[in-house]
Amino acid sequence: MREQLETLQQEAIGLVEQATTQKELNDVRIKYLGKKGPITEVLRGMGKLSAEERPVVGEIANSVRGAIQERLEARLEQVKEEEMAAKLASETIDVTLPGRIKRVGRPHLLQQVTDEMEDIFVGLGYTIAEGPEVEQDLFNFEMLNLPKDHPARDMQDSFYITDEILMRTHTSPVQARTMLAAKGAPIRVICPGKVYRRDEDDATHSHQFMQVEGLVVGEEISMADLKGTLEAFVKRMFGEAREIRLRPSFFPFTEPSVEVDVSCFKCGGKGCNICKQTGWIEILGGGMVHPHVLEMAGYDSTVMSGFAFGMGIERIAMLKHGVDDIRHFYTNDVRFSEQF
Ligand code: DAH
Repeated sequence: MREQLETLQQEAIGLVEQATTQKELNDVRIKYLGKKGPITEVLRGMGKLSAEERPVVGEIANSVRGAIQERLEARLEQVKEEEMAAKLASETIDVTLPGRIKRVGRPHLLQQVTDEMEDIFVGLGYTIAEGPEVEQDLFNFEMLNLPKDHPARDMQDSFYITDEILMRTHTSPVQARTMLAAKGAPIRVICPGKVYRRDEDDATHSHQFMQVEGLVVGEEISMADLKGTLEAFVKRMFGEAREIRLRPSFFPFTEPSVEVDVSCFKCGGKGCNICKQTGWIEILGGGMVHPHVLEMAGYDSTVMSGFAFGMGIERIAMLKHGVDDIRHFYTNDVRFSEQF
């Protein structure tokens, strides 16, 4: 009996040592220490033993049970720790790894300013017209009252592709195109886009830059409409406190022609480095559409009149955002772009 019990003990402890999971240990417990296990059986059968044998066998059985139980519990603790360690190892997250940065792009500053201008004019009932950057001499100059050899062509030194085709020097040719397409009907458009001139590049000049053209044609359109429109635009763009000033000027396609200044938004008119001590900053050219330009595009200039204006987008962006060199717009240095 003693041998039998000791063999059971060895067997059970052997299985306990081999077990690697809590479930395996539990199986061993049920098999050896459970109600139907061999040790319980021995203890149950004690009644059949003699009075001398009973305490001896009882003691052995109890000590075997105790030994198995002790090993089981010790091993159970180990297995729990091993399982936890394995779980931790397999589920590690390195919280010190840097996250993946999602770079969110944004429109270029020139695009932002163009969008802003479009919003303002669309709010005033304008639509947006576009024309080609590779343009005919006809639209770029002739239809705008600048016949071949007109001296005012010298103001816009051009990139010619053939004698009759050039890179447009301003957005004004879209005026002529829009009027021809409208066939005598009223017009209210702005035309944003790129233009090209044979200029030396410096802090304020670029051989390629952007303009927005404006054109309104209708009955009884007057200089007052031009002034009111530009005032509304300037207040939206540069702030309600801004005022405008019109100075006489010359453009072949407008008569009369004006240059338009905005009151300095830095000093408010007192004079500072931005306005060159004058209190005013020039922002655009404009005027009443020349009757001959209207007639060439098929309008009866005795019935219809119009105003037009053109401004440089870079100039507006530089003034509004304090950019000191036009070349910053084109070099695509993110240290610049990211600021806006
Ligand atoms: N096209 C002119 C330029 O590039 C600007 C301009 C002046 C446009 C007067 C106009 C205008 O529409 O009426 O210098």
